[in-house]
Amino acid sequence: MKTVVIGRTGQLAHALARLDPSAAVLDRSQVDLASPETIWPALERAQPEVIINAAAYTAVDKAETERERAFAVNATGVGELARAAADLGAPLIHVSTDYVYPGGGDRPYREDDETDPINAYGQSKLAGELAALSAQPQTVILRTAWVYAPWGHNFVRTMLRLASARDHLRVVHDQRGQPTSALDLARACLLAAQKAAGSSADDAVWGVTNYAGADETSWAEFAETIFSKAAGPLIERAPVVERISTAEYPTPAARPANSTLDLARFTHVFGQAPRPLSEALDEVLTMIRPEDVAE
Ligand SMILES: NC(=O)c1ccc[n+]([C@@H]2O[C@H](COP(=O)([O-])OP(=O)(O)OC[C@H]3O[C@@H](n4cnc5c(N)ncnc54)[C@H](OP(=O)(O)O)[C@@H]3O)[C@@H](O)[C@H]2O)c1
Repeated sequence: MKTVVIGRTGQLAHALARLDPSAAVLDRSQVDLASPETIWPALERAQPEVIINAAAYTAVDKAETERERAFAVNATGVGELARAAADLGAPLIHVSTDYVYPGGGDRPYREDDETDPINAYGQSKLAGELAALSAQPQTVILRTAWVYAPWGHNFVRTMLRLASARDHLRVVHDQRGQPTSALDLARACLLAAQKAAGSSADDAVWGVTNYAGADETSWAEFAETIFSKAAGPLIERAPVVERISTAEYPTPAARPANSTLDLARFTHVFGQAPRPLSEALDEVLTMIRPEDVAE
């Protein structure tokens, strides 16, 4: 099966390239989602049997002031990508976010819960979901959250870097979510690609499915878990984590308090349950070298 991945340098794109070396990986110089005219020629050349979109505008805070750019990449660009996928007869695997949900309540969000994003990034991603599904009904959308990897910009690498320089950290404790390893997310995308390739138009695989790590935590608890595992091999000692509220750590974009996702549909449709946090985090931490921590 000829798999084409959009994006090369991101957390997910890098994991996909590693796990499926046979995939054709197109970087921004080949497909720029902000320049829709680049999409069709690159895909026509690549002749994909399935497309995985790992590219997105992901600067959540900047999106508040770069709304147009966020929508150009995450909505217009994704719509164009889906149109090209439909023209070429290739199913599309697309990744979205927990930020499409309003983030209130105290139970995990299900796919059929109402969407109502509270920041510009979430709004652009929701517009992208709708654009993708209307242009290419044979699209699988995986809504994920709190992605981390041994590479790229993420909470795990930031915490390790800060821990090597400080012995006390203030971390938000009133936002809850399920940390998701980019390696596991890549495996879920590849599984979805495989299922999609063999599915008929009315199959249950199409449409929106939540996908995240199995265990729920707060950012502060996640930091404590990272430090308890990394102290010794990656950092000298675990810093003290002071649990603070969102109000004590203001950011330009509002963040949902409840980012937890109900994963029953993924397990049912794709026949696999997401891994526990401890196992997934161990895999990522063993791929980080002590010399990478201070980067
Ligand atoms: N990170 C999270 O915590 C999180 C949470 C929920 C959902 N997600 C979703 O998960 C997916 C993967 O996220 P990630 O964490 O892997 O993102 P990431 O590390 O920020 O990488 C984003 C990728 O998109 C590419 N990109 C940005 N603008 C582009 C454009 N105009 N045209 C083509 N490529 C472009 C970047 O390429 P350059 O290097 O050239 O900029 C990079 O390869 C995204 O759909 C994201 O919305 C992420």
